[in-house]
Amino acid sequence: MELISVSILVFISILTLLYAYFKYSFGYWKSKNVPYDEPSIPFGNIKNLGKTIHLTQFAKNAYDKYKPTGAKICGLYVFARPMALILDLDLVKSILIKDFSNFYEKGFYYNEEDDPLSAHLFSLDGTKWKTLRAKLSPTFTSGKMKFMFQTVVEVGERFRDCLFDVVEQNDELEIKDLLARFSTDVIGTCAFGIECNSLKDPNAEFRRYGRIAFGEPRNSFLKSALVGGFQKLAKKLKVKVIRDDVSEFFMNVVRETVEFREKNNVNRNDFMDILIKLKNQETTDKDKVITLNEVAAQAFVFYLAGFETSSSTLTFCLYELAINTEIQNKTRKAVQEAFERHNGKCTYEMMMDMPYVDQVLQETLRKYPSIGNLNRKVVHHDYRIPGTQTVLEKGTPILIPAYAIQRDAEYYPNPEKFDPERFNSEAAKERNPMCWLPFGDGPRNCIGLRFGMMQARIGLLTLLNNFEFSLSSKTPNPLQFEAKQFILAPVGGVYLKLKPIKM
Ligand code: HEM
Repeated sequence: MELISVSILVFISILTLLYAYFKYSFGYWKSKNVPYDEPSIPFGNIKNLGKTIHLTQFAKNAYDKYKPTGAKICGLYVFARPMALILDLDLVKSILIKDFSNFYEKGFYYNEEDDPLSAHLFSLDGTKWKTLRAKLSPTFTSGKMKFMFQTVVEVGERFRDCLFDVVEQNDELEIKDLLARFSTDVIGTCAFGIECNSLKDPNAEFRRYGRIAFGEPRNSFLKSALVGGFQKLAKKLKVKVIRDDVSEFFMNVVRETVEFREKNNVNRNDFMDILIKLKNQETTDKDKVITLNEVAAQAFVFYLAGFETSSSTLTFCLYELAINTEIQNKTRKAVQEAFERHNGKCTYEMMMDMPYVDQVLQETLRKYPSIGNLNRKVVHHDYRIPGTQTVLEKGTPILIPAYAIQRDAEYYPNPEKFDPERFNSEAAKERNPMCWLPFGDGPRNCIGLRFGMMQARIGLLTLLNNFEFSLSSKTPNPLQFEAKQFILAPVGGVYLKLKPIKM
């Protein structure tokens, strides 16, 4: 009996302490005179995140509510942890570029020991991130892109042939999955040197594990947020981010590919080649080499970041072109004129000479940035926001709401309208560059920007040259975003009608 009473007492004490802890923590933004939404125990402001609402829409709601007040930031609570959401473009620029040295970390959780694939460039922080970024940057120069160009074109041609076959059976297609199969084959070839064949076989292993890695993550959004707040404890408890089956598959693929290439002296000028060279380079500076696990983690992130972002960009692009048929026709004409200027050949130079196609892709990425928010953290010292008395304390996580900024009527009048003319050279010059952030900005921007754009351009020119796209009764209207996915993805995919163009 006494034991039960003591247990109840302990339980009540813990609850009281927890309550006091939350109440105390929830006073943070008020004490700084920063506007915020009233949080609730235990989730703070994120109760429905990842369940009924996507992070981009959540950030947009806060942005739309507090930006008109003139505040430069508003406050959020992720459980009890305060996070700052940025509302002002000058401050965005300071964080991403001017004062980058105090904001270069993201504060994501990773676990090199127990979950080696999680220690990739996207998540790493500290000197690890700095040295790895420096080592990997030469991987993505335009010279390297030229080497890979032909490979991507060849996958594009296989994609076209596959589509012709599919359309013969059924002209109403779910294009998101088809495009993911195209970009899986591109990145599989360039990052792993493997012909994944997911175009022919929808269940090919690469595609299957890619689908699982994104669609069925190991941890829910809430668990990830919780782990993010208690990283040291999570590491001690050996918490992992990546599912075991996904991890095992990719580790094996990388191990086998590296062994094969080393044994047979294979050189393919692809990402894997560059990673193997970094692993094997002869130097006394240990910081300059990378281990096999690090090779695997980078190949893994190139794969994930490469296929889902590019395929969702193309999906949204075709969706808009099916709605806006005049723009579709104009884009197709721009592709055909570029071919004519370059003697009918699809060369690297021809691909870079399609300004209107680029405008269409830029407008797509404005309306639908695959990664709708950028994360940063105050790294070294407290930071007083220029022109205010507000201080961002060391360690504070920061969210830059790219999606919300890109749909702000102050910067893009009539923001729901799809209008590539927003990106003609004059209009683009007039605009603050911080209004367009689909690849982030500053020294920690997207390292794969050139590759992502190359893949999207080749995909789009191949498709527009061979097919007309129109809406079908199954096309979603309006589009809704899958709440639990990290990347912006349409619920249920996107169905369109395809009609082959006879040349
Ligand atoms: C349309 C295609 C793509 C989009 C929209 C996109 C978007 C982004 C964004 C928004 C970031 C965060 C930038 C920041 O925080 O400032 C990022 C980072 C990154 N992206 Fe991409 N990406 C694309 C394609 C690719 C491709 C093809 C690769 C690799 C082959 C790639 C690899 C990465 C990596 C490794 C990072 C982390 C960089 C770092 O933290 O140093 N991305 N991407």
